Amino acid sequence: MTKKLYISTYGCQMNVYDSARMADILSPLGYSLTPTPDHADMAILNTCHIREKASEKTFSELGRLRNKRRVKMEAGGGEMTIAVAGCVAQAEGAEIMKRAPYVNMVFGPQSYHKLPEMLAEAARGSGQILETDFPVEPKFDHLPDEAIDTNLSAFLTVQEGCDKFCAFCVVPYTRGAEFSRSTTEIINEAKRMIAGGTREITLLGQNVNAYHGLGTDDQSHSLAELISQLSELDGLERLRYTTSHPLEMTEELCQAHRDIDILMPYLHLPVQAGSDKILEAMNRRHTGDEYRRIIEKLRTYRPDLALSGDFIVGFPGETEQDFEDTMQLIRDVNYAQAYSFKYSPRPGTPAAAQEAQMIPEEVKSERLARLQALLNEQQLAYNRSFEGKTVPVLLEREGKREGQLIGRSPYMQSVYVQSPTHRIGRVADVIIDEGNANSLRGTLKSSSSENAA
Ligand code: 5AD
Ligand code: SF4
Repeated sequence: MTKKLYISTYGCQMNVYDSARMADILSPLGYSLTPTPDHADMAILNTCHIREKASEKTFSELGRLRNKRRVKMEAGGGEMTIAVAGCVAQAEGAEIMKRAPYVNMVFGPQSYHKLPEMLAEAARGSGQILETDFPVEPKFDHLPDEAIDTNLSAFLTVQEGCDKFCAFCVVPYTRGAEFSRSTTEIINEAKRMIAGGTREITLLGQNVNAYHGLGTDDQSHSLAELISQLSELDGLERLRYTTSHPLEMTEELCQAHRDIDILMPYLHLPVQAGSDKILEAMNRRHTGDEYRRIIEKLRTYRPDLALSGDFIVGFPGETEQDFEDTMQLIRDVNYAQAYSFKYSPRPGTPAAAQEAQMIPEEVKSERLARLQALLNEQQLAYNRSFEGKTVPVLLEREGKREGQLIGRSPYMQSVYVQSPTHRIGRVADVIIDEGNANSLRGTLKSSSSENAA
């Protein structure tokens, strides 16, 4: 009999990837995914701890699940196992067990391969289960072979964890120290993905460019070397990687953007702030100018590189001048796209202890609005600059309108185009008619009808 599995995913791509792997691990046990928690036999909250009020959200969502479970049981629908996974689980596991004793299991990102074992224990009625230790054997060794993403554009985790300890960030505490998978494992997984229909792979890691996995030669290999090896695989059209740290943008990796044609001209390289004082307080270990020089170098190797970043406004101690330095850095770099956040203290991180220097909420909001206005302006100008140009678009799926397909440009823009559905999975040349704030609209170039890619 099939059992219903509900997974609610918050946060980053890493969590999206982990949720898919959890579904794969549970599928041999008879679980298949259901879109709502109403009749679920198992409900997993895959949580994110990176920004504000993460734990409060977890508790209110848990309260809702508890009600669903009651309704289900009263209707004779049987039990619902409630689990909390992800980074809130890792960081606040014991607290969850205490405040929400009806939760059956809590486990961190390093433990989900043990789900079948934990379910068996739960079934034996051994009460609540807490699995938030960092295991010595990496979870990747335990994943079933079929636990892979075979979407047209798919994610492949190559590295997890982070040793950078930025003063605002919980990742080093929740995901643990850096760990890189071996090149062999990654290449085998990529081959299976390609055989399953994947054409674009995004290599994932919290600190992906710190990748240093072992090769068959027992030597450690860099991300640039891994990218070069992956680029040899037949059938792979496009490669990307995310998220990177400026300190790990090696010469070799910058050159890969020039030399490897399937490595897409898009880079997410967070800088967080533009003031050297704030960068130092954030423990980023680079200055604004050092970041500018990396960007300049990348652009000499790949002039059309599209840049994306992350910004935090209102870090403790940020003055108007510090904020202006961030604005200036944005003007200097000119981003194609970016993410920006108000600083929010995460318990246990060094910045959260700087209470005396906290910036008032209104000031943060006002600065964020100014910063986003500038970033939106840059993004719109960037997208408009494509009008009249032809770009190769990997057509991924049908759009909402009749006959419309949605794909991505090499620069990560979503592109809307009228096209027959049999083109899904192909790279087509599209003439851009209109660049909007968040997407491009275009027309198929007629000569691209034979452009089977
Ligand atoms: N407050 C605000 N933003 C944060 N980020 C990480 N931690 C915090 C925090 N405490 C942002 C950073 C990071 C992105 C994933 O989330 O910009 O790059
Ligand atoms: Fe967090 Fe900094 Fe590591 Fe990124 S590099 S995961 S922001 S500690």
